[in-house]
Amino acid sequence: MRISKSLILLLVIALSASLALPAFAQDGGATFKAKCAGCHGPEGQGKVGPALKGTSLTADQIADLLTKGDDAKKAPHKKAFSSLSADDAKAVAAFVKNLK
Ligand code: HEC
Repeated sequence: MRISKSLILLLVIALSASLALPAFAQDGGATFKAKCAGCHGPEGQGKVGPALKGTSLTADQIADLLTKGDDAKKAPHKKAFSSLSADDAKAVAAFVKNLK
């Protein structure tokens, strides 16, 4: 009994540890697919919106654009994405910076 309990505990720890790291990037990727790919293309190659792959903007600038909006930009970026939390914006910005 004791052994199987600690085995399960170990398994749970190993599983959550292995999930913890990639989860960040995956969330950004999922958010990108759901909210950005329709305009920027699934690989960020550009569509209705400009290509984001290889953008010269920093991840912070991208996150700012998403959470605050920018009056100088066209829709939909005049306004902040109200459905994105600050953490979502950071994750998706990191994802965009990693597009190759
Ligand atoms: C409805 C279509 C649409 C959606 C959805 C959309 N974008 Fe955009 N995006 C645009 C357009 C159009 C521009 C160009 C705006 C301009 O230059 O005035 C743009 C510009 C940008 C820029 C600035 C690019 C540059 O080089 O200046 C970034 C960064 C960006 N989008 C990221 C995102 C991210 C991340 C998402 C998802 C959270 C997203 N966009 C969702 C249409 C969209």
